[in-house]
Amino acid sequence: MIIGGSASQKLAALVAKEHNEILCPLETRKFPDGERYIRIGGEIDSKALVIQSTGYPQDQNLLELFLILKTLKSLEVEDIKVCIPYFGYGRQEKRFKSGEAISAKVIAELLESSGTSEIFSINLHEEGICDLFDIPAHNLSAMPLIAKYIGENFNNPIIVAPDKGALGFAREIAEILDCDCDHLEKTRISPERVETKPKNMDIKGREAVIIDDIISTGGTIVNASNILRLHGASKVVVSCVHPVLVEDALLKIFASGVDDVIATDTLQSDVSTISVAPLIADFINK
Ligand code: R5P
Repeated sequence: MIIGGSASQKLAALVAKEHNEILCPLETRKFPDGERYIRIGGEIDSKALVIQSTGYPQDQNLLELFLILKTLKSLEVEDIKVCIPYFGYGRQEKRFKSGEAISAKVIAELLESSGTSEIFSINLHEEGICDLFDIPAHNLSAMPLIAKYIGENFNNPIIVAPDKGALGFAREIAEILDCDCDHLEKTRISPERVETKPKNMDIKGREAVIIDDIISTGGTIVNASNILRLHGASKVVVSCVHPVLVEDALLKIFASGVDDVIATDTLQSDVSTISVAPLIADFINK
């Protein structure tokens, strides 16, 4: 049984297609007072894969996921695998200030108590989230799929991480494509002046592909793109796994002169060109 929650219906359908299976019908409605109704149609199997991203509206998508899981559990489905392509609340995996909710931990506990037997996600913002679970938890990487796309569409690009934190992604892609990679770094020139530029490489005349895990407000990308242009990049394309794209983020990015934006469909968006369906299908086949 492959079940796609409201946030991941198209992706779930693609995964089902890769498996030659029919997507399990899921009826979802909102009552006039705003409360949710769900009904799992079709025949109930002993094994299920539920696919649901928990991006905006996070709380609604999460509640729907819990309703699906608890329903499967009550119908005595024994093996419930959950794929959360984009894991919402994934930034708070520890307590930074006293009294804070460790949101990712709370969600992990709720997923487990709702009947999940195994969970997997894609490029979790914090790798440590897997350790919050007592059930098997896996963090898959969409970088090979992004690398494949870049390899097919660009000629000798340089892969650029907008900051050191994203350098691992740039390295992963550059290794697959056997091309250059670098990251942007801030250097203090004087007490009043900070310069941001590529750490090691000369970018002049090069096609640059920026890679990050998330594009949220677009601020990080706009800044990185401006710097690459300033240092002579001939083309600037932006790629990411999770197109969170808050409000007018895409508009801001294109207005800054970026040539293209490429993202995956962990979250459905106008720039979700690359599907992670083969990644999910391969994982569940193993
Ligand atoms: C930061 O740790 C992430 O990797 C992204 O760089 C960040 O989420 C992007 O946010 P924004 O698009 O709002 O600059």
